[in-house]
Amino acid sequence: MQRHNKQHGDRTITSEVDKVKRQVRKAVFPVAGLGTRFLPATKASPKEMLPIVDKPLIQYAVEEAVEAGVETLVFIIGRTKNAIADHFDKAYELEVELETRGKTELLQIVRNIVPPRVECVYVRQAEALGLGHAVLCARPVVGNEPFAVILADDLIAEDRVEGGALTQMARHFNKYQCSILGVERVPPLETNKYGIVHPLPFATRLSNVDGIVEKPKPENAPSDLAVVGRYILTPRIFELLEKTPRGAGNEIQLTDGIAALLNEEQVLAYEFSGRRYDCGSKIGYLIATIEYGLQHAELGDEFRTYLQSLPQRIGGGFPPGNAE
Ligand code: UTP
Repeated sequence: MQRHNKQHGDRTITSEVDKVKRQVRKAVFPVAGLGTRFLPATKASPKEMLPIVDKPLIQYAVEEAVEAGVETLVFIIGRTKNAIADHFDKAYELEVELETRGKTELLQIVRNIVPPRVECVYVRQAEALGLGHAVLCARPVVGNEPFAVILADDLIAEDRVEGGALTQMARHFNKYQCSILGVERVPPLETNKYGIVHPLPFATRLSNVDGIVEKPKPENAPSDLAVVGRYILTPRIFELLEKTPRGAGNEIQLTDGIAALLNEEQVLAYEFSGRRYDCGSKIGYLIATIEYGLQHAELGDEFRTYLQSLPQRIGGGFPPGNAE
């Protein structure tokens, strides 16, 4: 098999390795954040349980992972621990009730939330010490394997041709066998909301990551490529996260762990194809609800008609907002 090395700074980068190819079989879903931007909705239930039309955010994320070939779902759960487990668990009483009432379609929906071959594992993050810490909590389950991390509040619509964002990333992982960060171009004034990479482009939508900075001011940002909620990571990240001190917000930042990782290993940034909705913010959540509503098989047409009639219904225009 071909080995292709190139020098990158003081590191040696291996693009194709001649050992047994590894695949991404496990995905970690950190759902233990406090979700303060959605209080009080998130007081007793994680924000990842907020529905977009009729499915919670976490279910869209799980479907994306399963499509990418993931077989083990590792949920990092916090103080609202039961909601996620209940959603993916068997619901005997509900199933019996739906069966008795002859609601077979709904019964199938409830039964098929997770395909039978897929295993769910729940790990408790006792304190919300940050995303890096949440990922570290997955170590005993993930072990010495590459794995995906999906932040379900970044909802990414599937690209009809290229598939889901994680499927696209897994394809590149199969080739390059190294960590891959899902990135998206953001307006320059918004770099202070994201981890921003310093990219060295080498193929269409693919770059080597030469550096990563958490929430830089626009004038200090190394690019406009922001890391959003999709990662494929090698298990080396766990050892590095163990040593990562608390950073911004007194939390253990995944970005800091990744910054250490790319000093040792090749890390790629991949600009996935597919529209992303920031459902961790109220406006992103509302936009996603409207756009998914418009595309919904059952109610899309009715909803479109309603939206078109809206200016007329409320008297020739929208009521003035608070913005102006
Ligand atoms: P966010 O930065 O969006 O924080 O977390 P948050 O607490 O969920 O929400 P706000 O900002 O207070 O409204 C990014 C992701 O990391 C998870 C969250 O659940 C979310 O998926 N997370 C964050 C954890 O699992 N544990 C943590 O300690 C922190």
